[in-house]
Amino acid sequence: MEQVVERILVSEADLKAKVKELGESISTDYAGKDLLVVGILKGALVFMADLIRSIRIPIQIDFMAVSSYGQGTRSSGAVRILKDLDRAIEEKHILIVEDIVDTGLTLNYLLDNLKSRGAASVKVCTILDKPSRRKIPITPDYNGFVIPDEFVIGYGLDYAEDYRHLPYVAVLKPEVYSK
Ligand code: PRP
Ligand code: MN
Ligand code: MG
Repeated sequence: MEQVVERILVSEADLKAKVKELGESISTDYAGKDLLVVGILKGALVFMADLIRSIRIPIQIDFMAVSSYGQGTRSSGAVRILKDLDRAIEEKHILIVEDIVDTGLTLNYLLDNLKSRGAASVKVCTILDKPSRRKIPITPDYNGFVIPDEFVIGYGLDYAEDYRHLPYVAVLKPEVYSK
């Protein structure tokens, strides 16, 4: 990976410690509540798998997969559901799990969409927050690390579908995507 990794931004050990903290906060905040943890594929896969194992209260899990329309229309905020939840969510407390909040368009869509289904509450847990690129003022209820405006890969995050499996978060070498 030396060919594509400029530098490691968040190490495996730092991720592990932060995920444990997040799981403890969530366990305290949702004690006694009916919590459904919703992972947003594909980016959230790795964080979701780690996070749910650090939650010490009974929960259920589900997944959604979403995609922005086409190539250049991301700024329109149009998001398409590729895989929806398996069950209705009325009266449930929903925690959306995302790898990163960048412009905020994906989470803005998901928050509106899930709130409209009659959930008891809808909150957001991200491992990375890149506030410098925000187009919609969204702040995750739980977040691991605030990161600078650099292209990052690993821990679920991809570049053209590659590098999701890296166990750390790394900055991609600029020459990889400027080619
Ligand atoms: C990435 C990331 C978030 C979203 C954040 O997903 O996983 O879901 O973009 O960007 P935003 O705040 O600007 O909306 P992507 O659409 O690349 O799909 P993926 O999770 O399958 O990689
Ligand atoms: Mn994603
Ligand atoms: Mg992606």
